[in-house]
Amino acid sequence: MGRVFVAGSINMDVVATAERHPKIGETVAGKEVLYFPGGKGANQAVAAAKQGVLTTLIGRLGEDAFGRDLRTFLAAQSIDLGSVKDTAGAHTGTAVITVAKSDNTIVVIPGANALVDAADVAAASFAKGDVAVSQFEIPLPAIAAFFGHARASGATTILNPAPARAVGRELLDLVDILVLNETELGALTGAELGENDEPMYFIEAARPLRGKNRSVCITLGRRGVLALVGGEAVLIPGRNVKAVDTTGAGDCFVGALAAQLALGKEIRDALAYANAAASICVQRMGAAQSMPTAAEVAAVLR
Ligand code: ATP
Ligand code: RIB
Repeated sequence: MGRVFVAGSINMDVVATAERHPKIGETVAGKEVLYFPGGKGANQAVAAAKQGVLTTLIGRLGEDAFGRDLRTFLAAQSIDLGSVKDTAGAHTGTAVITVAKSDNTIVVIPGANALVDAADVAAASFAKGDVAVSQFEIPLPAIAAFFGHARASGATTILNPAPARAVGRELLDLVDILVLNETELGALTGAELGENDEPMYFIEAARPLRGKNRSVCITLGRRGVLALVGGEAVLIPGRNVKAVDTTGAGDCFVGALAAQLALGKEIRDALAYANAAASICVQRMGAAQSMPTAAEVAAVLR
């Protein structure tokens, strides 16, 4: 069995729930304030570890109360935290999130995440069959070093280019599998896309990202996932569930996909599995703590 290595952000999510999102300049009364472990890197590592795959997280925390709480939570998920550094003089990454009617807005203050560097990721000891995962909440040079190292050892690389920003050819050339939503697809390709566009429109927009043999997976929220695998379009419909909080759904998808690939599963099967895992995640509040176990996903797929 391969392992999963995630280089990425670790945040405390400070979540305000309300009946609706405020308009710019408006104040609305909230219902609750909640503190949830989050950060795209941590969420994806939890999602992979809960599938029973050995998972290493590489990242940074501040030397503060959020950092200590997050380390305790992540250790309890059986994640290898040997490469998570406590960083003096920086605060732990913090995300300020509003959740209303299952949808969210997020402001991320990176703190220690912004200090992850190439030396931090050099410790990962990859072997063939391992899977390396990253996202855009740590600096790009660290991601490039991480993927370069993974590729040189025969590991598979997965990039989730979120939050959306353009990506240079050099980094893209190190990516085997891209997992992105329609906003991120627009940022990478310059295409004008809306969440309700026809699936085939997304596939055409994604084709230039395919390169020689890259798989491109576009997550479509409740509509499921669309992928270009070996040049062929694959549509996996979303599962009909009642979403309460979609924060971390994309991360659940990425982590579950990485775990399935580390277990040696074929990509189409791994995508269907990740779609089922993410449909469980959206039915729970919070990000990292809403990731399902392998038994929960198996029950949905039965
Ligand atoms: P986030 O940034 O909130 O983590 P995202 O935009 O990266 O999310 P989405 O495309 O919204 O990712 O969702 C990822 C996956 O989660 C989808 O491909 C699907 O499998 C699942 N999913 C999301 N929302 C729903 C929903 N309402 N019902 C069922 N499945 C969902
Ligand atoms: O993808 C969801 C995550 O984005 C949240 O947990 C928040 O920390 C932000 O990084």
